[in-house]
Amino acid sequence: MPLDNTPLMLLEGYGWLPARRREAPDGVARTRVLGRRATGLCGPDAARFLYDEDHVLRHGALPGLVQSTLFGHGPVHTLDGADHRVRKAMFLSLMTTAGIADLRRRTAAAWDEAAAGWAAGGEPVVLLDEAARVLGRAVSAWAGVPLSPDEADELAGDCVAMVDGFATPGPRHWRARRARARQEARMTRLLEDVRRGARHAPGGSALAAVARHADAHGERLDPHLAAVELLNVIRPTVAVCWFVAYAAHALHRRPEHRARLRSGDEDFAEAFAHEVRRFYPFAPFVGGRAARDLTWRGHEIPEGTLVLLDLWGQNHDPDLWPEPYAFRPERFLGRAIDPFELVPQGGGDPRTGHRCPGEDITVTLLRELAVRLARLDYDLPPQDLGISLRRVPARPASGVVISDVRPGA
Ligand code: HEM
Repeated sequence: MPLDNTPLMLLEGYGWLPARRREAPDGVARTRVLGRRATGLCGPDAARFLYDEDHVLRHGALPGLVQSTLFGHGPVHTLDGADHRVRKAMFLSLMTTAGIADLRRRTAAAWDEAAAGWAAGGEPVVLLDEAARVLGRAVSAWAGVPLSPDEADELAGDCVAMVDGFATPGPRHWRARRARARQEARMTRLLEDVRRGARHAPGGSALAAVARHADAHGERLDPHLAAVELLNVIRPTVAVCWFVAYAAHALHRRPEHRARLRSGDEDFAEAFAHEVRRFYPFAPFVGGRAARDLTWRGHEIPEGTLVLLDLWGQNHDPDLWPEPYAFRPERFLGRAIDPFELVPQGGGDPRTGHRCPGEDITVTLLRELAVRLARLDYDLPPQDLGISLRRVPARPASGVVISDVRPGA
């Protein structure tokens, strides 16, 4: 039995699971993490295997470190079967065409207002943090959460902290816990007010959805759990700021893409968003526990083993993506994407499995903001734009500082 790999996982970051897979003759990693046996897989067939609920369950699989920071305790991520499908339907009910268009409009307006401020202020700004504030203001209003601009900015900063601290036992972890505690308390109070009629939750909003949601047994979520799920809409929407910073990084390294984004070529903007999600590091892997004794291509996977899907590895697999370390949006032009192929937000069908329900939001907002970013003129002062793959979540070290912002074409 291999030694527990948790310290190595924390040290090696995105490279950890690909390295364990490379060490194995057939690319199937067999290791131990968090005191449990683990099997690491990669590829569309492996994704199909993992997203089959008959094979892999989520309950009891998510480490406390991640729940206390990133997701909260008791979220949809940890449910299986009917409980999962009913809770998941609540998230998907928010993803209507009109709802996403409304969020897009709000985000564009918040960006334009912020960009005018960067231009007028004349000071350098950190794009990752600015994009977080833009997204925080837009998504909180869209979700029906009444906040002053300062409160919305605090929420955005706390959402960034929750994401930033989910995979480290150090100070970032404690910052993330404090951020989560603060925002859970705020949202719980708000939900209590809505439930007793002291606050109105706009029809169709995320606030109304979590306040009224009934679980598979017809029971309403307690206010704290409802707050956790409300944050599971707001926090990952704010986290699109990571992809905005990566888009700026891509435009810096490959400035030839700027003109095509500026031109209003919708197909290219969508392809650019997909390539940002594929190319840059965010979620390293997903996983659950084997529901029973399983066999994968001749490998025995005993019941209870953690089964991990290497998202980073799959998004850089040369069999799926020729020249995977070249940033080439064109690879997504004029072709359909298989649900188990491109997996930055998981794979499969979001209605029946655990695939992210927020992909349409992510792609829509990233497209919108990448085009708006490309249309701005700005300078990049000397800074550290390095992206360490040992740090989870990775980010350009500087957060991408931009200066001398001017309205562009
Ligand atoms: C699940 C990534 C944006 C809500 C996930 C998963 C990943 C992911 C990797 C896990 C899939 C699995 O366990 O198999 C991302 C990334 C985003 C993003 C990189 C970009 C910033 C969003 C947005 C929302 C959202 C905008 C909501 C508005 C959720 C929820 C789940 C989830 C509720 C749990 C789904 C379930 O367990 O059934 N996301 N996501 N995410 N995401 Fe996202």
